[in-house]
Amino acid sequence: MTTASTPSAAPSTAASDVVHAPGSPDEGWWRHAVIYQVYPRSFADSSGDGVGDLPGITARLDHLTDLGVDALWLSPFYRSPQADAGYDVADYRDVDPLFGTLADADALLARAHELGLRVIVDLVPNHTSDEHAWFRAALAAEPGTPERARYLFRDGRGETGELPPNNWQSVFGGPAWTRTTNPDGTGGQWYLHLFDARQPDLDWSNPEVRAEFEDVLRFWLKRGVDGFRVDVAHGLVKAEGLPDWAGHVDMIEGAEPDEHAVGPVLVSPRHPAPMFDQDGVHDVYRSWRTVLSEYGEDRILVAEAWVEPMERLARYVRPDEMHQAFNFPFLTTGWDASALRTVIGTSYAAADAVGAAPTWVLSNHDVVRHPSRLGLSAPGSRPNGIGHGDEQPDEALGLHRARAATLLMLALPGSAYLYQGEELGLPEHTDLDDTLREDPTFRRTGGAERGRDGCRVPLPWEADRPAFGFSPTGATWLPQPEGWGAYAVDAERGVPGSTLELYRSALALRRRENLGSGGLAWTDGGEVGSPRWPAGTVAFVNRDVLVVANLSADPVVLPAGAEVLLSSAPVAQAPEGTTPVPQDVTVWVRVPG
Ligand code: GLC
Repeated sequence: MTTASTPSAAPSTAASDVVHAPGSPDEGWWRHAVIYQVYPRSFADSSGDGVGDLPGITARLDHLTDLGVDALWLSPFYRSPQADAGYDVADYRDVDPLFGTLADADALLARAHELGLRVIVDLVPNHTSDEHAWFRAALAAEPGTPERARYLFRDGRGETGELPPNNWQSVFGGPAWTRTTNPDGTGGQWYLHLFDARQPDLDWSNPEVRAEFEDVLRFWLKRGVDGFRVDVAHGLVKAEGLPDWAGHVDMIEGAEPDEHAVGPVLVSPRHPAPMFDQDGVHDVYRSWRTVLSEYGEDRILVAEAWVEPMERLARYVRPDEMHQAFNFPFLTTGWDASALRTVIGTSYAAADAVGAAPTWVLSNHDVVRHPSRLGLSAPGSRPNGIGHGDEQPDEALGLHRARAATLLMLALPGSAYLYQGEELGLPEHTDLDDTLREDPTFRRTGGAERGRDGCRVPLPWEADRPAFGFSPTGATWLPQPEGWGAYAVDAERGVPGSTLELYRSALALRRRENLGSGGLAWTDGGEVGSPRWPAGTVAFVNRDVLVVANLSADPVVLPAGAEVLLSSAPVAQAPEGTTPVPQDVTVWVRVPG
């Protein structure tokens, strides 16, 4: 049996409850923007080869304006052998023929700007592809040459150099070093790759590397991009001498043996990792900030840095460094009211301390989509992919919770990132045939980790068309699950209660009420078990909107007269005028007069 709890009075927002003070909608656009991640190979395919491309994106940009986002972030589309889906760049100044041409990139930028959308592109500075001209030259050159000095080549240990230079493991599994072969067939030096062997790490202590990337920034800034998402931003600089490290970082599971580590490559000071979050990275971002300033004050840098605690992460967004950093501690918190309140509070404290705006994110191309994560029996767990034989998420429960999680996120002041398809409520593809998997983590862990293909499946656009409208021929580089017609854009557009309409309404209200630049005050002082809101509730006020997420089994009852503006699932007024908010539902309510 459940018991209902009624707030004793209209929510109070006493000064002591204020976590974050409101700002102005006129401040820097990124401080409150909603940014939509486009994963080019899976968004829309215009050529019919089954892989999405830039003209496909351009043709579908009206979906983003219709949704109501401010900007898009494009995952890499540069020349690449695609050993890690484009995060292995062979030429930073060209478009891979798989995705189109430089002219297609220009056309995409022009159309997006015409529609009022800003465009952020991905920058992958930690490593290049093994097919990059620099790495080819390095392999062809002798040890000790300037060609080799752009990367981290080292002699091996052991009598004949047969052992790797240190004990580091690749984030994708297996050793982080690969040995080269000398022209005479004997074993040569080793090179470092924190990810796949086809992604050699650059040596950021080399001024030539720094100069090259500043030039790459300028190349894209001149073409009109509005910013850069910086891949593995915490990895560029390695500790002097490349010392051994007892830990190991997985793509998703976090760093061993630190039980506090969460998420891929998330590193904490309890077990400082010599390859991550070294102080020297900040110097790089200070110089990049200066480069961006040459093009005005509106271009931004966003850090992909799996670093904790939040104060450490906030160092990446100090006033003269980046503008944003992804909030992975929020993404990995799971579905627990107390933990969510803590992570929200610490996010504001850390960001406010350096004058930055926090960001929020629930899904991206590296993690199991949030409707599927939240449909697992332990909704806080974060498997690196789900496949045959693994626990299958409860699709309905997961979506129900995901909608509540999204509504909570979109009411938080700051900037929010959406991952393509989440506006449709798309689940992970959880029974993809293992033979079709392309993520190198699957191969490098011998299948122990299923990898990230399940969140990268091509989008469904039209329920009745081949490949659900993804490509004109019906080809798709990964198969779409059969039931995905129900999630297609045209199956949800204009349908009351659909996830697409929920996102559209939320984004419209967020904009109208200026929630992105608003403030946050707990309505109960943030104390779990407060008499006003039950322990399983996350409740706060942002401007004139009261947000209540009920994660507990007990319905939370809104006082009579409460005007519900939006809810993640239907709520109905009781005969006496009160409104019970059921389990796993978030509501936005007009604060009573
Ligand atoms: C980042 C990217 C991921 C990629 C890795 C190596 O974590 O988000 O997709 O595999 O870096 O570049």
